[in-house]
Amino acid sequence: MHIVLPNAFDLAPTLQHGQNRKRNPRITSADHVLSLIHAKILSERVVDLPVQFSQMGQRLSEPVITQLMTSALADPEMLSLAAGFTDNSWLPKALVGKAAARLTSDTSDPETLQYGTNQGRHSLRKAICCLVSSHAGEDATRFHPEQVFLTQGSQQALYLAMQVLCDPGDIVLVEEPTYFVFMEMLAGLGIEARAIPYSSKTGIDFEKFGDLIDVLQSEGDWNRVSAVYLESYFSNPSSRSLSTEAKVGLAECLQARGCLLPIIEDAAYRDLYYQTPWPAESTLSMPAFSGFPVLYLGTFDKPFASGLKSGFGICNHKEWISNMLHAKGHQDFGSSNFVQALLEDIVDTEDYGIYVSGLRTHYESKAALVQEVLEAEGLTRKGWRWENPSGGLYFWLEGPEELDTSIGSDFCEACLANKVLYVPGDLCFAGRQPRNCVRLSFGVLLGDRLEEAVRRFARTAKAFSE
Ligand SMILES: Cc1ncc(COP(=O)(O)O)c(C=O)c1O
Repeated sequence: MHIVLPNAFDLAPTLQHGQNRKRNPRITSADHVLSLIHAKILSERVVDLPVQFSQMGQRLSEPVITQLMTSALADPEMLSLAAGFTDNSWLPKALVGKAAARLTSDTSDPETLQYGTNQGRHSLRKAICCLVSSHAGEDATRFHPEQVFLTQGSQQALYLAMQVLCDPGDIVLVEEPTYFVFMEMLAGLGIEARAIPYSSKTGIDFEKFGDLIDVLQSEGDWNRVSAVYLESYFSNPSSRSLSTEAKVGLAECLQARGCLLPIIEDAAYRDLYYQTPWPAESTLSMPAFSGFPVLYLGTFDKPFASGLKSGFGICNHKEWISNMLHAKGHQDFGSSNFVQALLEDIVDTEDYGIYVSGLRTHYESKAALVQEVLEAEGLTRKGWRWENPSGGLYFWLEGPEELDTSIGSDFCEACLANKVLYVPGDLCFAGRQPRNCVRLSFGVLLGDRLEEAVRRFARTAKAFSE
């Protein structure tokens, strides 16, 4: 394609230093000048012809998280409690550096820099079986390397699962609240999300859940229901976990109606417990789910290094895993072999365990700081409620019932004006849409900046809850 670069003279006034620069208040930094150049290049590269997109192409819109992150990056004063990033100050530079040096030493086998296999490195798959089955209550006989596949983050595994299970118009059952990026994925694929009713006592309101299945069946919609998506460990956004009783109850509810649906159990935050691991075993090990197709999802991004973008699925159903691997073959025919080799080199060492354990303590102290500021600001006296997390990266807050925290609301605008970002809770609900909830993420900000961000949020919240 012929690319027309901007004429240097078009940009000359903006590029000049001295007087011109002073006269134009918009030119404040080299970054700004560069962004003008990029904008110019882009505007001249844009082809303005109509393109007929697929139905999916037409359905897609910019993910909310991208918008939130763009606003955070565009304004250095903005403090973000929105993005679910991990903590830069704790990223395992030394561990990864040493492993990379070993893998690229003169005597090392260069195969790690070659394409790998579609399913992923066998030794890493074995190590993953050991890692997951080492959690209390897991049945090690249910974990086999043949059932494991490596992906570009667990997000890719989730996408593969949806691609091979669902057609547009299908329904996936999700918790309330649930992972909002997954909800956006469903919307993009034309899949509908329906909420599994929540109970603060039992995690799932079984009576209402039974009613939901009955209604879907009696109205002839049940054949569109393709899967259940659960986040059972320190979930995003609520930091709640599902008890063994809740999971067994869910299995029984479905089984009693002859509905052995595929179960997707997303355990992205399982290793990020603060003091004790969540005691419930995974659905892969639970006898109550033995008749169900189960896909368990894990990741190295949250408990290790998000920049490695490496996750995995473990699936107990032969045809389901084959189909996902076929789809993966079409997408990338294998995730990064080098990243997998790095992880293979690291995960079964003592150093990995020490690292993850230090990270847990670090996040625990950050969670304590958030809690301290929220309490010191007296938010509870203004009608706000939350549960302090015992793992994960999030606080889930419920404001006074009449408060609207959704995008574009006065509250949201006030937070933006006060230079703090959060995730509006309504994005995380499939059915009824309470608008008074908020997710605060404390993964990325540190010390004073974290404290300041939570204070800005709390003060805005108080002002709206008088
Ligand atoms: C619940 C949940 N699942 C999956 C993912 C995907 O993570 P990754 O692709 O980095 O493994 C995330 C990321 O934030 C998440 O919060």
